[in-house]
Amino acid sequence: MGRKALLRWYAPRRRAYPWRRTRDPYRILVSEVMLQQTQASRVAPAYRSFVARFPTAESLARAGLRDVVTAWRGLGYNRRAVALWEAARTMVRDNGGRVPADPLEMLRLPGVGTYTAAAVSSVAFGSPAAAVDTNARRIVARFFLGAEPDEVSPREIRALADAWLDRGDPGAWNQALMDLGRERCRPRPRCGACPLNVSCRFAAEGRAPPPAGRRQPAFEGSFRQLRGAVVRGLLDREDATLGVLARETGVSLEQVGEAVSALVADGLVVAGAAARAGRPGGRVRLPG
Ligand code: ADE
Repeated sequence: MGRKALLRWYAPRRRAYPWRRTRDPYRILVSEVMLQQTQASRVAPAYRSFVARFPTAESLARAGLRDVVTAWRGLGYNRRAVALWEAARTMVRDNGGRVPADPLEMLRLPGVGTYTAAAVSSVAFGSPAAAVDTNARRIVARFFLGAEPDEVSPREIRALADAWLDRGDPGAWNQALMDLGRERCRPRPRCGACPLNVSCRFAAEGRAPPPAGRRQPAFEGSFRQLRGAVVRGLLDREDATLGVLARETGVSLEQVGEAVSALVADGLVVAGAAARAGRPGGRVRLPG
């Protein structure tokens, strides 16, 4: 239902992003990890420069983490860079530097969850795996059930998404839904111009859009920002003391200490004993 209309709508978007103009599974993996938490429009320039700097899993695996995090600039959520680097090292060690074609094997890579494994295996290898993220859940719940996704069981959404997948070109289908979720079936939907509106139950029932969405709690946002500021502060120098980092980021020693502890736990920074104890002279640096 609605397949043809959606694929026709998707046709001009088929090559709309740089990761849609390659068949290289490594590059597609890089793009999907970047796209996990960053908008496609912001990913595009970072993706181009990242794959120019690290064109293969081997080149990424050989690099030091500092260079990888530097190349990740502009994307945020730096722990994804650590995961991708570890995934490259795993692929070199276990699979000749290749992305495993089997989604279950792919799932064993750091930073790769069910959604990313489905996206990469469908786009790179044509595997019949539905990539079901927040956007796809919203589309499926609305289209088939006239409901918002939180009104339906995840199992039911998953079954509908699996059945709906276009097995002729699963990668195109998954990406068409991603585009639809971004452009039309947004939290506040734009049904008027949606290619699925003639057979969509949500559109037919004329349901009111949900109230404006919840925003990320302010604390989460600011702690994440602080972590990002600490990493950026370390990119261009060998190391820095906790005191200097606190001054530069404009927060207390205690707060910068908490950010550093979280970054140490994620493998993004290395801190000496004094820094881990929260002393202002304690030194912190990026690994590698
Ligand atoms: N979001 C996640 N994966 C994507 C893709 N391949 N193209 C566009 N947006 C995406």
